[in-house]
Amino acid sequence: MAKKKAPINEEEEEDEDLSSDPIYELNDLPGVGEITLKKLKTSGIMSIRLLAMYPLSSLMEDAGIGEKTAKKLIKAAQDIEQMGFKSADKIWEKRRVMRRISTGGQNLDDLLGGGLEPGAVTELFGEFRTGKTQLAHQLCVNVQRSHEDGGLEGGALYIDTEGTFRPERIIQMASAKDMDYQNTLQNIVVGRAYNSDHQILLVKEASKIIEEKNIKLVIVDSLIGHFRAEYVGRGTLAVRQQTLNTHIHDLLRISEMYDEMAVLVTNQVSSKPDVFYGNPITATGGNIVAHGATIRIFLRKGKGEQRVAKIIDAPNLPEEDAIFSITEDGITD
Ligand code: GTP
Ligand code: MG
Repeated sequence: MAKKKAPINEEEEEDEDLSSDPIYELNDLPGVGEITLKKLKTSGIMSIRLLAMYPLSSLMEDAGIGEKTAKKLIKAAQDIEQMGFKSADKIWEKRRVMRRISTGGQNLDDLLGGGLEPGAVTELFGEFRTGKTQLAHQLCVNVQRSHEDGGLEGGALYIDTEGTFRPERIIQMASAKDMDYQNTLQNIVVGRAYNSDHQILLVKEASKIIEEKNIKLVIVDSLIGHFRAEYVGRGTLAVRQQTLNTHIHDLLRISEMYDEMAVLVTNQVSSKPDVFYGNPITATGGNIVAHGATIRIFLRKGKGEQRVAKIIDAPNLPEEDAIFSITEDGITD
């Protein structure tokens, strides 16, 4: 039962997994028969790793599994995944060889320590037209490029909540890099989310597509829009924040459960007149989003095509500025 990553090119399929660890599948777990297996898979829990990271209450709710069984399943999965402590050198070993997705701008890549980081949720936040959607499009193209060219040789999954995904723009950006645009478009899977429940569902279902299409980048553009619009007349702010919190944790889990997976979310800054203008901490979604995202990038307008990016509270990056431009060909310095 060899675990294979779905290849983007057929040739890559020959890559063999050389590790000697036995590889388990969900139905190898004690007590997982056909019915439980089906419940897990219909809720998008496709692997032991995802199961091991699933919170108990979500497993019970999403898969309709009773508490006792759910606890047992998570425990068994965690044992296999060895989710206890790790020594720091093992963590360093992984980060040292980590590849990143180039944004297209050298300054911005430098600011990010080489580009968009897999294994983390990065948040782009800023006012309208600051380039959040443009950067998201560019990363969908760049993730597909070779390692030498700053890509991860994988596809992108784009959850579009505002109807602003434009294949035309992908064609421009791909052509500017001499990439075959048909092929580039084929490697981007787009889900149009019509409301917040639908958005949550699309994220939960993403894992079904991720392995099949060798996805290395998941985007939600924008994360908060639907929540902000819908929860006005629907329950309290507390309910909204709680739902949003679970949603962000679903995204965090996606970023962590695959060997090389970047997650990017966008977020509009609310222009609250009572808050000092320009304070980047006033991104919508409040603390929930701020604490959920691993790396936060604040975008603002510069001269003409120029935009300015600033890192806000990333674990290991300096709070500096980088300038990039939005041009016909895409993102550049
Ligand atoms: P909201 O979603 O409204 O919050 O904004 P956003 O931050 O997502 O902005 P977006 O990424 O859509 O950026 C829009 C900016 O990109 C505008 O200033 C456009 O002028 C610029 N832009 C979009 N397409 C092109 C293009 O083909 N050529 C050039 N030069 N600029 C473009
Ligand atoms: Mg946008």
